[in-house]
Amino acid sequence: MSRIAYVDGFYRRLSEPHIYVEDRGYQFSDGIYEVCLVVDGQYWDEAGHMARLRRSLEGLDIPFQMSSASLKIIMREVLRRNRLRDALVYMQISRGVAPRDHPFPDKPTLPVMVMTVKPYSLAANDALAQKGIKIVTMPDIRWGRVDIKSISLLPNALAKQEAKSKKAYEAWLLKENKITEGSSSNAWIINASGSLVTRPLSNEILGGITRESVLKAVTSLGLKVEERAFTYEEALEAKEAFITSASSLVMPVTHIDDQQIGDGQAGPQTLKLRDAYKQVARPS
Ligand SMILES: Cc1ncc(COP(=O)(O)O)c(C=O)c1O
Repeated sequence: MSRIAYVDGFYRRLSEPHIYVEDRGYQFSDGIYEVCLVVDGQYWDEAGHMARLRRSLEGLDIPFQMSSASLKIIMREVLRRNRLRDALVYMQISRGVAPRDHPFPDKPTLPVMVMTVKPYSLAANDALAQKGIKIVTMPDIRWGRVDIKSISLLPNALAKQEAKSKKAYEAWLLKENKITEGSSSNAWIINASGSLVTRPLSNEILGGITRESVLKAVTSLGLKVEERAFTYEEALEAKEAFITSASSLVMPVTHIDDQQIGDGQAGPQTLKLRDAYKQVARPS
């Protein structure tokens, strides 16, 4: 079955050409995106993703007028047309099409939205979580407003490629010897005293929606959280480590730069937290 995408008002086969050459997203990465997880036909953490989408649009001053009700209809229709009930949904909104010039066009453009879906298997992700993942570290060379979920992802793509070339799943990014976050996930450790440590919200990390729900889940488990930056050495000495994102949920980290974390197995607290996260994120 050919994949169907929503492209600026129409549902089209992905194989059909439909790029606007002068879309500012294409030429300047002047746009934002969201990635949502759908399990058994239901969007997880939907309200959080919708709220961040609006925050990102505001952050770049993109005048996107579509109501949340209409957006939600398209989010369901694109799944239906692809006959998927378990999927990752990608939505991107650019400022729109205008003759190429760096400043925003004087005459406001209509933002262009595209939406694609790809199959997702929670069972496969659960199996990976039992094994855990390896990560590598590298310098954080991104711009200063990574709290906006913009489509400007070249440093993230380069970091992920380097991780892949080293047979790792994710790259953690380092600024002044402290971990900021992963190339497409937030970074966490559980230290010797049992505290969960993750970097606080600022313009140096993307405020993950999974991170937000995990913080709620943590409260229900009665665990202690320290929202502060942690060093590379603290990460290596951690009892457990994990990443969070819509596609990885809560994913244990067993090795950082080939050094074993804890006993080198998926951490038991992390796996508990993964279950607790599912309770919070899955719509009831
Ligand atoms: C840089 C970065 N940090 C964190 C996250 C996690 O965000 P979320 O939990 O909303 O998927 C992502 C997700 O794509 C990301 O790209």
